[in-house]
Amino acid sequence: MPNSYKPKISQTNSSQTVLPRIAQERLARLQARTARIGVIGLGYVGLPLSLLLSEAGFEVTGFDNDTKKVNDLEAGRSYILRILPAEIAAARQKGFSATTNFARLADQDAIVLCVPTPLTQHREPDLSFVVNTAKVAAPWIREGQLVVLESTTYPGTTEELLIPALEEGNTQGLKVQGSGAAADRGVFYVAFSPEREDPGNVTVARRDIPKVVGGHEAIATELATTLYQGIFAQTVRVSSTRVAEMTKLLENIYRCVNIALVNELKLLSLRMGVDIWEVIDAAATKPFGFQPFYPGPGLGGHCIPIDPFYLSWKAREYDFNTRFIELAGEVNEAMPAHVVQSVAKALNEHKKSMNGARILMLGMAYKKDIDDLRESPSLTVIELLREQGAEVLYNDPYFPTVGRGRHYNLNMTSTPLTDLQQYDCVLIMTDHSDYDYAAIVTESKLVVDTRNATKGIASEKIVRC
Ligand SMILES: NC(=O)c1ccc[n+]([C@@H]2O[C@H](COP(=O)([O-])OP(=O)(O)OC[C@H]3O[C@@H](n4cnc5c(N)ncnc54)[C@H](O)[C@@H]3O)[C@@H](O)[C@H]2O)c1
Repeated sequence: MPNSYKPKISQTNSSQTVLPRIAQERLARLQARTARIGVIGLGYVGLPLSLLLSEAGFEVTGFDNDTKKVNDLEAGRSYILRILPAEIAAARQKGFSATTNFARLADQDAIVLCVPTPLTQHREPDLSFVVNTAKVAAPWIREGQLVVLESTTYPGTTEELLIPALEEGNTQGLKVQGSGAAADRGVFYVAFSPEREDPGNVTVARRDIPKVVGGHEAIATELATTLYQGIFAQTVRVSSTRVAEMTKLLENIYRCVNIALVNELKLLSLRMGVDIWEVIDAAATKPFGFQPFYPGPGLGGHCIPIDPFYLSWKAREYDFNTRFIELAGEVNEAMPAHVVQSVAKALNEHKKSMNGARILMLGMAYKKDIDDLRESPSLTVIELLREQGAEVLYNDPYFPTVGRGRHYNLNMTSTPLTDLQQYDCVLIMTDHSDYDYAAIVTESKLVVDTRNATKGIASEKIVRC
């Protein structure tokens, strides 16, 4: 069993923290929003964060090793649908710039890391992006700087991987404050603060999502909290980086397990002839003790299908088996196969075999109204349908084309939503708001609906699965 980490300074509120001079200077700049902030990783998390910081008045520099993204931003272009070029232009007017030149990290007061944390082919944590970024950044870390990791990961990453990589590669011999280094000289500060972005959610403004912050000791917490107070209405201090790391995992595991629960109950309800969506809607009227989760064709996105396995991997180091996570994974990962079985059964009832069937899939994105197909169950379902000899086409207003990704190589183009009679089956995978479901049902021979998108439409052509 590894030694458990014991923080040297207990921290409950800022008034207990006496700041050394070098931290006071940064703190003053963070409070006045004159601090310079570097954001590494300009993807779905890092770019909106950069824009938010810029809007609040900070001078923001974005760093990415993807030259296309950097060139796009420098030319005022956006590569994320929901971020308008006008927002990039507004940030650029306030001094935002993007670069691949990591030497510019030396000029920053604080550096925030928003790089990917996927799984390897063997479904183990792939922390190579975090470690590589730390190695690239390490030579440019300067005394008194604050480094914050936002990437979702298992408890211990900040202390066990990030800090050692930053210290080892630092040419000035700086140490993280708290590693036996004097608090007022030769140190930099490190914190972890998880990202809580919910793509497509327009009901909560980003600023109103409370931000959890856990520093490697009290001074780092103080600095990181002050940074985020500039852009979030509420910050939540926790006692360590590990608590902050685990908080994010709890949130995502909670979703993963509850989605698995409703997916399993959906399978049973289908056999029992009970409408699970009606059941959930009825249960959701309970004013306490119940939060609705909805079944679907399988998990997608960068978070829910991946993050829980970061914890189950780490748990093995403690001889611990995270059974809920494993079971939820098993149930959720079986959903694409259930969809394919349902399509085969529905075709069979129309005296049609899967082999040779022409299927139009509606929706590539892993959830409605977004342009993100990472880990989308649609990708798996296409593969499974093709394995059984079906010809698959797709339509998705958010993806005119789908090329190549980490786990797929499709080279497909979105098919117009016309002449639906030519398809043996229209398969609804993503319930985008743009679709006219009543018209789709009217014009199709057979509709298999994995999302209850056809709720309220009565037709024998619809198979809900
Ligand atoms: N997307 C979400 O909704 C979401 C929500 C909460 C948390 N997260 C977490 O946030 C982290 C980032 O996710 P994302 O969705 O923004 O990923 P992303 O793939 O959209 O963006 C990551 C960016 O990092 C860049 N990058 C990779 N290695 C780099 C390096 N060495 N130096 C500089 N840049 C590098 C990539 O080019 C890319 O632009 C992940 O840990 C993810 O789990 C994501």
